[in-house]
Amino acid sequence: MRLKYPHIAIGALAALAPVLQFEDLVPAETYYDIVSNDFKCETMSCFNTIKDSWDAITYEGQKNDGLQLLSKMFRLCRWFIDSDSIKDEFREPEKAEDLSDWLESAYNFLAMTDYPYPTDFVMPLPGNPINEVCIKIDSCSDRTSILERIFEGISVYYNYTGAVDCFDLDDDPHGTDGWIWQGNIMLVASLSALIDVSERVNVFGPCLVRTGYQEPLLDAYITAHDDFKSALKLFGSKIIFSNGLLDPCSGGSVLEDVSETIVALTENGAHHLDLRAATAEDPDWLLQQRATEIKLIEGWLNNYYQAKKGNFWRIKVMIFGYFLVYMPLSL
Ligand SMILES: *[C@@H]1O[C@H](CO)[C@@H](O)[C@H](O)[C@H]1NC(C)=O
Repeated sequence: MRLKYPHIAIGALAALAPVLQFEDLVPAETYYDIVSNDFKCETMSCFNTIKDSWDAITYEGQKNDGLQLLSKMFRLCRWFIDSDSIKDEFREPEKAEDLSDWLESAYNFLAMTDYPYPTDFVMPLPGNPINEVCIKIDSCSDRTSILERIFEGISVYYNYTGAVDCFDLDDDPHGTDGWIWQGNIMLVASLSALIDVSERVNVFGPCLVRTGYQEPLLDAYITAHDDFKSALKLFGSKIIFSNGLLDPCSGGSVLEDVSETIVALTENGAHHLDLRAATAEDPDWLLQQRATEIKLIEGWLNNYYQAKKGNFWRIKVMIFGYFLVYMPLSL
């Protein structure tokens, strides 16, 4: 808004804006590295279980009745919801990858919404949800299989209320279709470059974001964004980039001051925690961050109104001068 419509927006607070998430500016793996780290930071066993689960899902899916087993294990909704006669039958995913995509989406959103207190932003979630997921994954008995652990963990995300009867892989509870569309036309991020990464070291390796972009379009955007950082410095002003380093989007955000009035506030929160309503559980750094933001915005507004007032008097003086000089002449 600020960059495109400077006459409308006096300034901007960009809370986790991955404006640098383009090839040549940040490595394409950054996003998933951050997601991975959020889980690693809980426990390595949690991270490793998730990491191993991708192969386990592929392996199961290749078995004869593998997809059916996966459907049962993950309680996927029956294909014919209203046909009561087949109580025990669950809808099979078309391929095991659909299940992986569904899981991956949850891990992504968990990384974004790893707030210190319970929220209902994307899904109803407990505070520190990644910690809760990992507790579930880690606390199963020794004989529990990898995929059973994953089911326990993922239920924190998809079924925290306990009110979900079955899971629908095609459900789009976050309305992400809209984001994907916007991403395709406005911010073709280079997450998709991961497709070429053969060495899959992090948790999310096998499950890749498919943005559905068209190659030529992507190329054009990458070229156009190459100079984004220097352009930002040259023609931008009055933007706060606030970042929470738990959020995978922070990898492509502006993490350092670009100029005197394009400043970065970088803390350890999740996705735009600073824009959420204040709560009693807000950590000190968050209070501080909000105070800094308010101070900067106040400064911009004061300048703006002062400049406007200056203009107002300048115009008044001009009109007054006109009457003073020309009126007597014309009389
Ligand atoms: C959701 O949680 C409730 C309560 O724990 C459980 O009874 C139900 O089976 C769960 N749903 C799924 C799909 O796992």
